[in-house]
Amino acid sequence: MKQLLIYCRPGFEKEAAAEIQDRAGQFGCPGFARAKDDSGFVIYECFQPDDADLLARKLLFRELIFARQMLVVWAELDDLPLDDRISPLLEAAEGMELCGDIRVETPDTNDGKELSRFCRKFTVPMRQALRGKGLLTRHETRHRPVLHLFFMANNHVILGYSYSFNNSPFHMGIPRLRFPADAPSRSSLKLEEAFHVFIPREEWETRLTSGLKAVDLGAAPGGWTYQLVSRGMMVTAIDNGPMSPSLMDTGQVKHYREDGFTWRPARKNTYWLVCDMVEKPARVVATMADWLVNEDCQEAMFNLKLPMKKRYGEAVYNLQQLKDKLAELGGFHVQAKQLYHDREEITVHVYQPRKVAKLQPKE
Ligand SMILES: C[S@@+](CC[C@H](N)C(=O)[O-])C[C@H]1O[C@@H](n2cnc3c(N)ncnc32)[C@H](O)[C@@H]1O
Repeated sequence: MKQLLIYCRPGFEKEAAAEIQDRAGQFGCPGFARAKDDSGFVIYECFQPDDADLLARKLLFRELIFARQMLVVWAELDDLPLDDRISPLLEAAEGMELCGDIRVETPDTNDGKELSRFCRKFTVPMRQALRGKGLLTRHETRHRPVLHLFFMANNHVILGYSYSFNNSPFHMGIPRLRFPADAPSRSSLKLEEAFHVFIPREEWETRLTSGLKAVDLGAAPGGWTYQLVSRGMMVTAIDNGPMSPSLMDTGQVKHYREDGFTWRPARKNTYWLVCDMVEKPARVVATMADWLVNEDCQEAMFNLKLPMKKRYGEAVYNLQQLKDKLAELGGFHVQAKQLYHDREEITVHVYQPRKVAKLQPKE
């Protein structure tokens, strides 16, 4: 298999293409990326026949910033008969490894949205047909690859597979979150999504729990603070702007009208530092590194705004600056993703696995 399909945010194809070309090349699987503006996906053509499968297994998906999903292209069919799409797909799927789940998906574009009803309806008969042919397990399992059908038009589809140990667990690579009616801003979903993507669910009990103290830089009106408060944390919110009164009424928030770049806590008892200030990435990175190196916080989640042209280069450069600064102390793990709720920005997460392992669940 020579082609890898990457889903991305529409408008970020150049970034996703530059990243996969870069990362796959460094990994020893050279090739070239094909991308169409605003299509919501990128195809990476490997020069060697088996490299797409190798990349899908070994190139760590969680380390790709602009990829929402990564899968191996098994076949592309662009003239499916509308009265029977299943038969040619079954024929094309012959010889594929047994899969444990099926996802019928589209690019995250307006055209894609028009196909989503069809995709939902198509999933059930297609699943049955694949099971009938022995291409899909009888019961859904995470121990087998995921079979993807990526519909670009109602007669044009890519059939592929991803490895469940190295993919996004979400349909279309997008976690479905409901906007909490009482959250003060839609930004709230960014932090919630970041928790879903970066923090394993089984660790929420120790890392996202009541009793922890958090600081939110650039907090107003409080969408991120809301996520921390609703998990029982005590939050110090730094912003010149006003915080939502309903959040202040919880008694869990202290609000200081200070400069988020210079304010520091008096005591070293902050667990979470979160930051959504709109500033140059270099300035945000320098502040975050300072907090972490001085142990003013244990774990950090922050956004880097990327409105400039060379967004991939800017992201890589700033993440490297961060890693270099943290290397003085060692033991830090840095992850970065453009989340579904991120627009011209990425979300970065920094933690120390050694310290996280020592956290005890609350009695
Ligand atoms: C994108 S908004 C934050 C939204 C917030 N995360 C939410 O969910 O409601 C950015 C905030 O950063 C604040 N900000 C920008 N520069 C700041 C600074 N130097 N110090 C403190 N706050 C700052 C702005 O006042 C603004 O409220």
